[in-house]
Amino acid sequence: MSQPILTLTLNPAIDGACETDVVRHTHKLRTSNERYDAGGGGINVSRVLARLGSPTIACYLAGGFTGQLLDQLIEAAEIPHLSIPIGDATRISHAVYERSTGREYRFVPEGPHIREGEWRAALDRIGEADFSILVASGSLAPELPEDFYARLQDITEQKGVRMVLDSSGPALERAVMAGGLWMMKPSRGEFEALIGRKCTDIDDMGRTAQGLVARGAAEIIVVTLGHEGALLAHAGGTLCRKPPQVEVQSAVGAGDSFVAGMTHRLAQGWTPERAFLYGMAAGTAAVLTPGNDLCHPQDIERLFAELEKGA
Ligand SMILES: Nc1ncnc2c1ncn2[C@@H]1O[C@H](COP(=O)(O)OP(=O)(O)OP(=O)(O)O)[C@@H](O)[C@H]1O
Ligand SMILES: [Mg+2]
Repeated sequence: MSQPILTLTLNPAIDGACETDVVRHTHKLRTSNERYDAGGGGINVSRVLARLGSPTIACYLAGGFTGQLLDQLIEAAEIPHLSIPIGDATRISHAVYERSTGREYRFVPEGPHIREGEWRAALDRIGEADFSILVASGSLAPELPEDFYARLQDITEQKGVRMVLDSSGPALERAVMAGGLWMMKPSRGEFEALIGRKCTDIDDMGRTAQGLVARGAAEIIVVTLGHEGALLAHAGGTLCRKPPQVEVQSAVGAGDSFVAGMTHRLAQGWTPERAFLYGMAAGTAAVLTPGNDLCHPQDIERLFAELEKGA
């Protein structure tokens, strides 16, 4: 079997979801269809990879009773994992779907405090692990050093493995300055924050991304544009595609599904262009499913076939 894809989630969550007729203040709201999933960027990527039959390991920080519950949810989903213990409790997010309006109300806590020994333990465990690709996902808690992902790059470089980064803000900036990423996937807002200005149009975005590729920031840059699709830039050229039109249920996990689908195919040796279309199919498949449910392989295959026909 090929070497697994390791994902890293520094601030995972237990994603709770339920439904009620109407959300009102003061009154007791009777809820139904309650479910709990293991969540957070990297864990979502691992969940999709597992559905696609790609070997994966989810590495994450977890603590308190909620951390134990997170471990159990990951075990129930049969995802191999490296759980790094922390002193504070893992967060629980909650999404309430209001049946009368179709609106979703999402409550997302900040997450636990991370101590220096804890994030250093994560770096050490990753340094010791066997894997072929690292997918690091999410923003950094304020107490983590801004160069955390740049440090991870040093580790992956020493190990001779590739790194995919889906992050934003100063953490992404520092990683880009360090250079040597295999792939990065900012959304449009994250990309514009990185370059410090708005892109005038898609050509401008493509040229700017190509400039970063030429400077060695990353071999492959994908900027996702929500319902407008995504842009791919790598040494072989630039490509921009729109996704098939679909009925949107919930955009939760669209970016994570994109990263999982594309990484899965790149790992199998697909060209960046075809892997990019597969990622787009996975991102679009994720919006078809309600709440925290991610993309399903049969939807990905159908949307990918549509995208390839239009290529
Ligand atoms: N409304 C939509 N219709 C079709 N596809 C969509 C839609 N929204 C998202 N997608 C698909 O999911 C991909 C990722 O979406 P998006 O750009 O919103 O990323 P994201 O990482 O989830 O965003 P952010 O991190 O800023 O919340 C898009 O490139 C597209 O393929
Ligand atoms: Mg994102």
